[in-house]
Amino acid sequence: GAVTQEELKRVAAHRAVEMVESGMTLGLGTGSTAAHALDRLGELLRSGELTGVAGVPTSLKTEAHAARVGIPMLSLGEAAAVGGGIDLSIDGADEVDPELNLVKGRGGSLLREKMIEGSGGRFVVIVDESKLVPRLGCTGAVPVEVVPFGCDHTLGLVRKVFDGLPGFTARLRTVVSKDGEGKEKKEVPFVTDNGNYIVEMFFEDGIRGDLNEISDRLLRITGVVEHGMFLGMATSVVVAKKDGTVALLH
Ligand code: A5P
Repeated sequence: GAVTQEELKRVAAHRAVEMVESGMTLGLGTGSTAAHALDRLGELLRSGELTGVAGVPTSLKTEAHAARVGIPMLSLGEAAAVGGGIDLSIDGADEVDPELNLVKGRGGSLLREKMIEGSGGRFVVIVDESKLVPRLGCTGAVPVEVVPFGCDHTLGLVRKVFDGLPGFTARLRTVVSKDGEGKEKKEVPFVTDNGNYIVEMFFEDGIRGDLNEISDRLLRITGVVEHGMFLGMATSVVVAKKDGTVALLH
């Protein structure tokens, strides 16, 4: 039968876990692809094929998953103090461009992901081939984490960075919440693990222009905490393809 996207995610994840060696400190990613890596790591730890591995989780969800499958965990500070920091991070991505720049954070975990995966060591990205894009921002939102205070003002400042760009829109990410009885639904801001909000930026045909300059302009806005463009951070990308092959991009 046809290979499902879920199977491709698992194939990519398992390939990356082959790069893990006993004694390593890992950055543990977030999302449906990274979840397969957590399951596999748990298996290898239980069977004794891997020993002395510890992970730093990139989200509360990943922390709970890692605990469930028996992966010992450290804080980012402990990882630096104990073993000289993260040896290898494994995480999915929403988009990968030809230079291996990424969009991440459509799951909302971009800040901890960037802190951990950018802290040093190798960063292996695991994707199925649907994530490969010609330009970042082609397939959906580019998230920006902002502090809740003044978020509508900050949203206006984010919009100003792309002033006059045809097709550009930005909005606060919301979720529908139920009231006490689980009935009346209302739209409320999505809240990150860090208690912040997310601004979503949409581009008609992806981001054209100097990504580093755009990154700098966003990060200079007081009220912006971090954004989901991961530029020059991935050391390799494992791509699982529908034809059954796996490509390793550097
Ligand atoms: C989490 O915030 C994201 O950065 C994820 O890593 C990304 O959304 C990939 O998730 P999937 O593997 O579920 O597509």
